[in-house]
Amino acid sequence: MLNNPVSSQVPSVPERIHCVFCVFTLFSASVPQFCNSPTMIVMVGLPARGKTYISKKLTRYLNWIGVPTKSQFDLSSFSHDTHQSFIFLQFLSLCIYECHFSPRACAAAALKDVALYFTKELGQVAVFDATNTTRERRAIIVSFAMEMGYKVFFVESICDDPEIIAENIRQVKFGSPDYADRDIDEAMEDFTQRIDCYRASYMPIDDEKDRKLSYIKIFDVGSRYLVNRVQDHIQSRIVYYLMNIHVTPRSIYLSRHGESELNLLGRIGGDTGLSPRGKKYASALATFIKGQKIIDLKVWTSHMKRTVQTAEALGVQYEQWKALNEIDAGVCEELTYEEIQENFPEEFALRDQDKYRYRYPKGESYEDLVHRLEPVIMELERQENVLVICHQAVMRCLLAYFLDKPADELPYLRCPLHTVLKLTPIAYGCKVESFFLNIEAVNTHRERPLNVNITRNPEEALQTVPDHI
Ligand SMILES: *[C@@H]1O[C@H](CO)[C@@H](O)[C@H](O)[C@H]1NC(C)=O
Ligand SMILES: *[C@@H]1O[C@H](CO)[C@@H](O)[C@H](O)[C@H]1NC(C)=O
Repeated sequence: MLNNPVSSQVPSVPERIHCVFCVFTLFSASVPQFCNSPTMIVMVGLPARGKTYISKKLTRYLNWIGVPTKSQFDLSSFSHDTHQSFIFLQFLSLCIYECHFSPRACAAAALKDVALYFTKELGQVAVFDATNTTRERRAIIVSFAMEMGYKVFFVESICDDPEIIAENIRQVKFGSPDYADRDIDEAMEDFTQRIDCYRASYMPIDDEKDRKLSYIKIFDVGSRYLVNRVQDHIQSRIVYYLMNIHVTPRSIYLSRHGESELNLLGRIGGDTGLSPRGKKYASALATFIKGQKIIDLKVWTSHMKRTVQTAEALGVQYEQWKALNEIDAGVCEELTYEEIQENFPEEFALRDQDKYRYRYPKGESYEDLVHRLEPVIMELERQENVLVICHQAVMRCLLAYFLDKPADELPYLRCPLHTVLKLTPIAYGCKVESFFLNIEAVNTHRERPLNVNITRNPEEALQTVPDHI
């Protein structure tokens, strides 16, 4: 890194703000790394090695556990040869200290977006795709991070199995507009050529030369890993996650238990058995699952009667998870919404104000639930075909993970009774199919009412409560 004098001719503040790098110099002369400094994750590897797949999936996971993360900062467009890279490096340092460059020039670097994301949007992790990366270029990223006090973690995907690569190209690339109306063989050829072109300049991370870097190398989509210099908690969680995911095709089925006695009465929580219609659903579910002809299906339930009774009807082995138990409504367990409004009107309004973070007195919040469910998600990632028989709030949390829904939408996701959701991973996301099994059930979905002020009257508070006996 160049040794830049912090000059006496630093421009005035409004002028400096033009360059995002300068935002930092306003706050910090030296930038130490803290335990919670933001992290840049840099994906390394040839095209068609699943880098985008990994980065999207990792981004989704980190956001779900509450670590603000963004991907798709594209580094492939910045400076094309090593000489230019060096100039870029100088330019970057100048930009950081003196800002004598125009905002347009600064914008040449995708790194700008990262800095913005970490400061303005309070991001914690940025995931980059740096396909065409050489050791020099990686050095630039590392210097930039050092200047800013960020951490860098490299994820390299290495794969030489032609079958896996071809499959990857087929699955992912032919969805892209580049290939929209061209012959597949021709496209495949073209893509293979592009890969060869990258191969000429690609320098894998070297266990000797790069031993000071923090990285994980993933060999052949997870048959083997090499992990080097993990720096902190978040990096070890990333490593842990990456070592659990797989790409074998499979489906995950999510269902709530059959309608319970308390559902009928409009009471939340509790631990009652199934209503007569709930029992009908259990046998309908058994028929549905048989009809799907699923290979080696695992069935999971919570420890609560209503999920266990639903699973019993399937006549197969099932496993109970305490972590899958319904959200604990604390003092509101077994109350109707009307009773909650009557006894705890303020609590009721506070919950409507921020349903994700609101914690029932002596109970849990959705946020708590997400943390409780993390081991379930990790195990779901390891498994293949699984049917999870769970509860409304639990199902919302699991669904939000697979469908990448933000925390504010999560508590309002629709998970009606007597409906199976089938999730199948495709390319970069998840296909959802919804099967209503034709057994009537009460509605348990309560929308957010218009008025969430604690001074609202009972009618306003109860505006969206679903019907019940
Ligand atoms: C990758 O970078 C090298 C040198 O930095 C350059 O010569 C080459 O054209 C680049 N390839 C692509 C496909 O951008
Ligand atoms: C709630 O209502 C009161 C009285 O109508 C009002 O003063 C207050 O600003 C409102 N609060 C919010 C958060 O809207």
